[in-house]
Amino acid sequence: MSDNIAKIILDGKTYELPVVVGTMGEKAVDISKLRDMTGYITLDNGFANTGACKSAITFLDGENGILNYRGITIEELAEESTFIETAFLLIYGHLPNEQELNRFSDGLTRFSMIHEDLKGFFNGYPSSGHPMGILSAMIGSLAAYYPELVKPDPSREEVDSIVVELISKVRTISAFSYKKSRGEPYVYPRHDLKYIPNFLNMMFSSPAKEYEINEIVVDALQTLFILHADHEQNCSTSTVRLVGSSKANLFASISAGINALWGPLHGGANQSVFTMLTQIQKEGGDIHKFINKAKDSNDPFRLMGFGHRVYKNFDPRAKIIKRKADAVLNDLGIHDPLLDLAKRLEEVALKDSYFIEKKLYPNVDFYSGIIYKAIGIPEDMYPVMFAIGRLPGWVAHWKEMIENPKNKIGRPRQIYTGEVNQHYIPIEKRS
Ligand code: SDX
Repeated sequence: MSDNIAKIILDGKTYELPVVVGTMGEKAVDISKLRDMTGYITLDNGFANTGACKSAITFLDGENGILNYRGITIEELAEESTFIETAFLLIYGHLPNEQELNRFSDGLTRFSMIHEDLKGFFNGYPSSGHPMGILSAMIGSLAAYYPELVKPDPSREEVDSIVVELISKVRTISAFSYKKSRGEPYVYPRHDLKYIPNFLNMMFSSPAKEYEINEIVVDALQTLFILHADHEQNCSTSTVRLVGSSKANLFASISAGINALWGPLHGGANQSVFTMLTQIQKEGGDIHKFINKAKDSNDPFRLMGFGHRVYKNFDPRAKIIKRKADAVLNDLGIHDPLLDLAKRLEEVALKDSYFIEKKLYPNVDFYSGIIYKAIGIPEDMYPVMFAIGRLPGWVAHWKEMIENPKNKIGRPRQIYTGEVNQHYIPIEKRS
């Protein structure tokens, strides 16, 4: 709390509201008692000015392009850590010691298989089914196979089991949906491969040829998964918290988060960026034509991968991914004209007054697809890659919420603007 107070005058009466200050200096007016005190609620379209909770997991500073996980900068973690170590940090609040890391990693290896019955689900899907829809359905269905992990108030040990099951199996389900889409046989997880090599093997090996693990590709996915691992109260994480606040189980909460992430304004943007770049390329590469379309308020076209609710300066993740895209394509000896196109688009946009005034910069989704494409991942799997990376963040927020004894079910209010004083009219008397 702070000595500061907020005063609000309503109907001639002055009310005082407490102020909360976070460990990085963020300030909030606590309106928990506002309606009881004044009869008023607040309205905030898209919750742009509303804090849903206090959290110790991730800190964002949108004005200065800062992103920290548990107090450690994203730049350090992307440079020094691994995805599994970062996942542990987000979920348990500290960097694991060797014993903790080995136990966590061994669990991820041991629980990578999915129940054979789940293959029946895959067989029921059309091969054209979007893998995000399959992933959310499968994750939700895991609750049916692990009834012991579906209790409303799981013990700490049960939470630890659910966490490992989910983070491990998300790879297997994702790789199986990819194989399904290509009509290829599923490749099972292996106990001799670590997290990311195991995923790549399930994605790209076949009975005809074993995939050769390329350390450049493993390193690129380590960085991408770390950068996507959490982002405080974004749309999908807020969805996981809201669903979980009713004491719905983690499988159901994560399944809801996957669906929220799927939207093209959120995690689905990485696939939309690829579609946009391909369209610009197909139409001759006229960047100014598309920049003008994005600026035209009468044109629904938006520059996908640009803009952010919080970052009104650069997205620190986009800077790292752009550098990583250059390095990966160079190391793999790939020249992708879409990367050149994306860079030109960024250069033109950042000099344009529309984007400058509206503080629109490339976000995490602008360059990530370039790397996924170079690895051989198809565009409809890009949001799935985002979900694999974001899963530890979702889990960390769900765990932080259920461990908070003061947590309440999320239930926002509204201001009603509909009809008043209406009465029932028998159908024969209606117009
Ligand atoms: C992610 O929240 C998170 O942290 C999300 C995320 C995470 O890690 O979880 O960072 C991941 O979702 C990144 C964002 C990916 N989405 C896209 O790239 C889609 C394209 N971007 C936009 O649709 C938009 O910028 C959003 C959705 C990202 C943010 O939307 P806001 O904050 O609601 O802002 P807005 O739509 O009100 O836009 C403000 C103004 C508007 O103009 P005016 O009506 O004021 O005249 O800026 C314009 C918008 O038209 N604008 C754009 C634009 N983004 C905003 N104009 C053209 N192209 C764009 N991309």
